[in-house]
Amino acid sequence: MRPFPRDNFLPFSLPVIEDDDIQGVADVLKSGWITTGPKTAEFEKAFADFCGCPHACALTSATAGMHVLLKALNIGEGCEVITPSMTWVSTANLIALSGAKPVFADIDRSTLMITPETIAPVISEKTRLVIPVHFAGAPYDVDAISALLQERNILMIEDAAHAVGTYYKERKVGQSGTAIFSFHPIKNMTTGEGGMVCTDDGDLIDQVRRLKFHGLAKDAWQRYTKKGSVGPLEVLEPGFKYNFTDIQSALGLSQLKKLDRFNARRKDLALYYDELLKNVPEITPIGRPIYPHRHTHHLYIVLLDIDKVPVTRDIFLDLLKQYQIGTGVHFRAAHLQHYYREVCGYRRGLLPETEWVSDRLFSLPLFPSMTENDVNDVVQALQAAIVSARKEK
Ligand SMILES: Cc1ncc(COP(=O)(O)O)c(C=O)c1O
Repeated sequence: MRPFPRDNFLPFSLPVIEDDDIQGVADVLKSGWITTGPKTAEFEKAFADFCGCPHACALTSATAGMHVLLKALNIGEGCEVITPSMTWVSTANLIALSGAKPVFADIDRSTLMITPETIAPVISEKTRLVIPVHFAGAPYDVDAISALLQERNILMIEDAAHAVGTYYKERKVGQSGTAIFSFHPIKNMTTGEGGMVCTDDGDLIDQVRRLKFHGLAKDAWQRYTKKGSVGPLEVLEPGFKYNFTDIQSALGLSQLKKLDRFNARRKDLALYYDELLKNVPEITPIGRPIYPHRHTHHLYIVLLDIDKVPVTRDIFLDLLKQYQIGTGVHFRAAHLQHYYREVCGYRRGLLPETEWVSDRLFSLPLFPSMTENDVNDVVQALQAAIVSARKEK
């Protein structure tokens, strides 16, 4: 019999760092070149090959990638950009910072993704761009949303922060169009922090490369090495300082080699959760899309039935902590957060489906080094927390 509660805390996510990851980073540290250089070029090429896309540019985060893309696409004052409120706040923040108006589309209650039906009503003559999110490892309906936007000449950036290795139909996310990926430590592969812009647009990638490094046409590797040339060096347009380092790239290269193994393990654990949760009617996993896809199980999100369990989701998550189980909330609706309420005037009632799931959802622990016994512990803790919640009432 295993003790309950377990004696150590199970976090909701842990990066898997193995000896070859550490060796790769150590080799770069000893090499004499640690900022953007040959390892970053190698990682960009390996990632582009992995996605099957022609161009990839690594940056300090997916947020940095989105910032640079909004600038490259001239998004600003007078534009509206549609995105879900059910996403990480970085996207809405960047839209607001650009001077454009973030406009939120509601989601499908089952998959938590925006759809043509929820986007169409919020399109206006000012809509320049839509940023849908491939959510939790599942793809959004790319063909259906693209068809809606192409008719109206509206641009699309795919937020693929959760979707490294995800397929939509027979296409890998990132293979065509423009997508951003994240390598934050909770993601399916990590570089500590980091992101990648993938695109099939050669002009756009040139601009992303410049904008991520002060707007200069050459980076340090191109200037300081013997093969490179010192000048001329000019700012072509004001840019940012979002360049990736070779230290991070070494980690990215070794993680990428293991991604399929990591994703396969995530899938096994997710299917095991599916099985066990059939016996916990108060907890329902979110749905998976009905169109063909390959899920990468970035997050295992469930909904708490707050009609049957008489505490709020946040109190329930504190109860789970007492049983040594960590969780995440992906996400709290962006439009109900202070700035978007007080400055932009968004209110509860605007996005009924988003608000309904935002009050109920949370993410269970899921990472490749978890064991089946960890999953057993999580489900036992859910059952115990439900009993405690009923006693608390
Ligand atoms: C849906 C989504 N988009 C964008 C981001 C931003 O990624 P990063 O932390 O690499 O900037 C995240 C981060 O978690 C995310 O979940």
